[in-house]
Amino acid sequence: MTPFAFTESPSPAELVCRAALPLDTPAILELTRRIWNGHDYIPFVWRDWLADAEGFLAVAEYGSRIAGMGKLTRLAEDEWWLEGLRVHPDFEGRGFATHIHRYLMERWRALGKGAIRLATASKRIAVHRICDKLGFQKVAEFAAFEKPTKLNGNADAFRLIQADELETAFAFATESHLLPLCFSLIDLGWQWANPRLAYLKRYVTAAQAYGWRGNAALVCADEDDEDGIKSWMLRWVACEPQDLAEVLIDFAHFAAQNGCQKAAWIAPLQSPILQALEKAGYQAAWDFSLYVFEYSD
Ligand SMILES: CC(C)(COP(=O)(O)OP(=O)(O)OC[C@H]1O[C@@H](n2cnc3c(N)ncnc32)[C@H](O)[C@@H]1OP(=O)(O)O)[C@@H](O)C(=O)NCCC(=O)NCCS
Repeated sequence: MTPFAFTESPSPAELVCRAALPLDTPAILELTRRIWNGHDYIPFVWRDWLADAEGFLAVAEYGSRIAGMGKLTRLAEDEWWLEGLRVHPDFEGRGFATHIHRYLMERWRALGKGAIRLATASKRIAVHRICDKLGFQKVAEFAAFEKPTKLNGNADAFRLIQADELETAFAFATESHLLPLCFSLIDLGWQWANPRLAYLKRYVTAAQAYGWRGNAALVCADEDDEDGIKSWMLRWVACEPQDLAEVLIDFAHFAAQNGCQKAAWIAPLQSPILQALEKAGYQAAWDFSLYVFEYSD
């Protein structure tokens, strides 16, 4: 079944992109086992991705083998995310990822509109080159910062935002002077997007949106568990930039209260934010950064 077969051949020829099927699962598990020393997250999301009726999950076949994959995810009608671009190590360096990315963009033009983004590591030169070739612009740069938590501070600074506060909280967040410093993007959980009421609603509904010292800041956070170490992840923060260091200090106490060993933020790399992180005692957790690329029609 090749309903969306892409006709232009890469070098070498005969790479056929098509919609992924459940029967591709064993080949995808085999492919991803060889990626990032077996730490690829695709096996954990593959079944959900297959079931995602709003997005589009693609595989690339080379002869009888699955040589790669990639996914379009719909965040909103006019806001999309491209993720899971993978090429089997046996086939790297032959233009396959470029071909899969082109195919996904063709599918996106048929399915979506507005802006489509992706995140990739600063060291992932192959993806930078593909983005460059396909007209994507680098719009943001982030890196992870973290702080071990202690249970001795002001964790009571935070209160849950209630559903009837949603619109006021959203207006506050969009007017926040911190937003331009965050490249006008918020983290939906490894997917960055422009702030929208619907996204904040998700955090409020999940009881993950908080007011800080009354209404002086809005903070959305959730828990991340990596190898048994729990981190309280800051996903969205809106406040006056001069309050950020204090918000971050309280956030680390709040993390402790929530049973997390670390407070963490994949933070925008902008000087005022880096200064606040340093003042609040957060340390860089990565030796690379994350670039967000965007294409808009
Ligand atoms: C990153 C990845 C998708 C690239 O796949 P690929 O099929 O080898 O990429 P392509 O052959 O299409 O190469 C794309 C471009 O990058 C260049 N390139 C490839 N590897 C490179 C490297 N290690 N350093 C510099 N340039 C590189 C290619 O020459 C090509 O540029 P060009 O068209 O100007 O010649 C693949 O290596 C992979 O799956 N890696 C592990 C998972 C991963 O990191 N995915 C990306 C997450 S965002």
